[in-house]
Amino acid sequence: MQQTGLPLNSLAIEPAINRHALVVAPDIPLTDVLALMSRARSRCVLPNSNSRIDAAEENSNFDPLIHQLAVDEEVASDAAGCVLVVQEKQLVGIFTNRDIVRLTAAGTSLTNLTIADVLPKQLISLNQSTSHDIFTVISLFRQHHIRHLPIIADDGEIVGIVTHESIRKVLQPVNLLTRLRLVSNVIDILDRVAAETALRKSESQLREQATRLEQTLQKLQKTQTQLIHTGKMSSLGQLVAGIAHEINNPINFIYGNITYADQYIQDIVHLLQLYKNYYPEPVPEIVEVAEDIDLDFVNRDLPKLLGSMKLGADRIRDLVLSLRNFVRLDEAEMKYVNIHDGIESTLSILQNQLKAKPGRSEIQVIKDYAKLPSVECHAGQLNQVFMNILSNAIDALEIQHNSTAIRQLLTTSVQQINCGGLETQIERAEDFPWILISTEVLANNWVAIRIADNGNGMSEEICNRLFDPFFTTKPVGEGKGLGLSISYQIVTEKHGGQIKCISQPGQGAEFVIEIPIQQQNHSGSLAIA
Ligand SMILES: Nc1ncnc2c1ncn2[C@@H]1O[C@H](COP(=O)(O)OP(=O)(O)O)[C@@H](O)[C@H]1O
Ligand SMILES: [Mg+2]
Repeated sequence: MQQTGLPLNSLAIEPAINRHALVVAPDIPLTDVLALMSRARSRCVLPNSNSRIDAAEENSNFDPLIHQLAVDEEVASDAAGCVLVVQEKQLVGIFTNRDIVRLTAAGTSLTNLTIADVLPKQLISLNQSTSHDIFTVISLFRQHHIRHLPIIADDGEIVGIVTHESIRKVLQPVNLLTRLRLVSNVIDILDRVAAETALRKSESQLREQATRLEQTLQKLQKTQTQLIHTGKMSSLGQLVAGIAHEINNPINFIYGNITYADQYIQDIVHLLQLYKNYYPEPVPEIVEVAEDIDLDFVNRDLPKLLGSMKLGADRIRDLVLSLRNFVRLDEAEMKYVNIHDGIESTLSILQNQLKAKPGRSEIQVIKDYAKLPSVECHAGQLNQVFMNILSNAIDALEIQHNSTAIRQLLTTSVQQINCGGLETQIERAEDFPWILISTEVLANNWVAIRIADNGNGMSEEICNRLFDPFFTTKPVGEGKGLGLSISYQIVTEKHGGQIKCISQPGQGAEFVIEIPIQQQNHSGSLAIA
């Protein structure tokens, strides 16, 4: 067999030649050939079986010309599909599975026939040559509708057979190329997937950036609010503190001297009385002046007049104290203070706004104070929170209770309210505007301050935006939308507390402020004066 000089590339026939074909002599009985083919097939390992029958051993009575050369299952199955009929080293025919089908279909009795009797007339074979390649074989297969092609050497000897199966195996590298192409397609897809992933990643990065931008914007808005507020408050605070200070001095003169003035006047009145007793008949000029000035009336009225002057001076002193207490410019550090004092000073500043107005009855302030310990806080800032919430409550009551036909009940209500418990007070108070301020010590060493009103209340949508900077439902010029956002910052950021609002339209509103009695870190510096 000639092996040298053949192209060893993937298209050469050489690698596809099966050299283990079954070879028989022409006079071998057909039945023996069929048995041989069957035996050759049975050498193949059946699925899930290890048993293998050695055809050569079992058929030792076959003609010695029979070459049972199959050495492995694949070669055996390949070779079992056909038998080469050889006489004196020359190929005389090829008998294949297809011939068995042909004979069976024709109803031919297979006994008493030799293989030579049933060989197909046409013998197609291929001479071994370097000019032939696998495509020559494939075209012969197609042209003659055959699946086995004997290859004949130059000297006429049989080299082996080429079958569909052997060609398939040889072409596997070509398949590999196809697979490689597939792989390259897969790489393309992978590239695309990678690009898509990168796109998605950059998309999510963009989204992240947008979120961060939004957060920065919110922070900016907050800072802006704070700056406006800080600016406003520091100048307003300074102004208020300045005025308070300026008023404080003269009012102290008045307040301090009123006691002496009272004393002096009482002395003078006493002296006049003495004159009157000892000189009951004064000269006509004195009688005339006494009548002119209505001395008796002056005598009666003067103590009252002094009393009301003292009351007025008292009020001014309280107000000045409240103003100073409210602004607390002098207290940059956190201090332990009485929260109720802060609420009270805020209320006294708002006193005028609580009074009855045309179209609205007086706002009743109902207090339910618990016994609170001193709370560590920036008192001035916290008072600012009370001020913002109370001012909003007054505004809300203005809207809800702005009716001229409002309850006459009010005239008697204050005294009646003072007689009843809190529940009764609220029950009775349904018809007039009220603000309820209650305080409570919470279990976790926090305190809660609740400020509720029976104003117009809020929708859920407003409730959700309440603490946003610049959010207002009030007409332009009336609302700035800063009060609650500043209050939120003061409570949460400056005091580590919480602030929330519970409200429904037409049901009033309740603001709950919760702050720790003692602050965790003492570093909080005052951003707002
Ligand atoms: N007690 C309340 N009852 C009803 N609405 C309220 C109350 N408190 C606050 N609001 C609503 O919250 C909005 C924001 O309040 P705020 O931040 O103080 O700004 P402003 O008072 O300038 O509007 C108000 O415009 C109002 O709609
Ligand atoms: Mg407000």
